[in-house]
Amino acid sequence: MAPRGSSPCASYMVVLGSLLLMAASIAAAGNFYQDFDVTWGGGERAKIFNRGLLLSLSLDRVSGSGFRSKKEYLFGRIDMQLKLVAGNSAGTVTAYYLSSQGPTHDEIDFEFLGNLTGDPYILHTNVFTQGKGNREQQFYLWFDPTRNFHTYSVIWKPQHIIFLVDNIPIRVFKNAESVGVPFPKSQPMKIYSSLWNADDWATRGGLIKTDWSKAPFTAYYRNFQVTACTWSSGSSSCDIRRPSSYSGATWQVNELDANGRRRLRWVQKYFMIYNYCADLKRFPQGIPAECKRSRF
Ligand SMILES: *[C@@H]1O[C@H](CO)[C@@H](O)[C@H](O)[C@H]1NC(C)=O
Repeated sequence: MAPRGSSPCASYMVVLGSLLLMAASIAAAGNFYQDFDVTWGGGERAKIFNRGLLLSLSLDRVSGSGFRSKKEYLFGRIDMQLKLVAGNSAGTVTAYYLSSQGPTHDEIDFEFLGNLTGDPYILHTNVFTQGKGNREQQFYLWFDPTRNFHTYSVIWKPQHIIFLVDNIPIRVFKNAESVGVPFPKSQPMKIYSSLWNADDWATRGGLIKTDWSKAPFTAYYRNFQVTACTWSSGSSSCDIRRPSSYSGATWQVNELDANGRRRLRWVQKYFMIYNYCADLKRFPQGIPAECKRSRF
């Protein structure tokens, strides 16, 4: 944490503070100091800059790094902008996910699998319910995720989970409790991210190893925004931090509209490279029940 609060110019600080507060409620960018704890890799590898508006994680031969939200959430919309490890990122994985705790935890995952310079990252997604995952879908991206920041979002509602990239839906996991598939709806989750070495499987299935001469590998985070119900000591409180763009909590509204469905089909047609629902070899006793209900 940056040292704060001991300024002699107290009134100036109060004015500045309230200006900052106003700016925060308009731009609503989260503050990494306020919203997250660095949980892995120490001060060297996980760094917060720009008065809390920018965070970087890095990986070197000794360790990766990671952070975790202070708050727990139960339903909501969560957006984060990431700029992934540039250049030769083969062997590295940047994981960004929501997870509850314990052996029957729920989890909503984005994992970015690095690659050699110029070769495409894979965006790997998964959903765990009651401790069980095996619901992978993988995508190439339609842009270079290392050149600029892009927004990766989760809309988590009792009816479904939607994964979005730059506001384009890439995956919908519907609530299929009616056919016996557990859905994440009662365990609050924190937001996590970590950057680590996974060169035993990440790039071309583990064929390409991490080139440590290129370390440290660094990914950047900014513009964390959350419109969610936070959870503390057993009760939920809905915290709407962007009233202008979420008047009436639009994230609670049902289903994708026609445009959203069209964009989802576009991503699934041109960019999806793996879908567990289509992997008949893997499920000889029949594809999972949630796959039968829809083409998602
Ligand atoms: C890396 O690039 C190769 C060659 O283009 C591609 O087959 C692979 O899917 C890419 N991504 C990963 C993470 O291996």
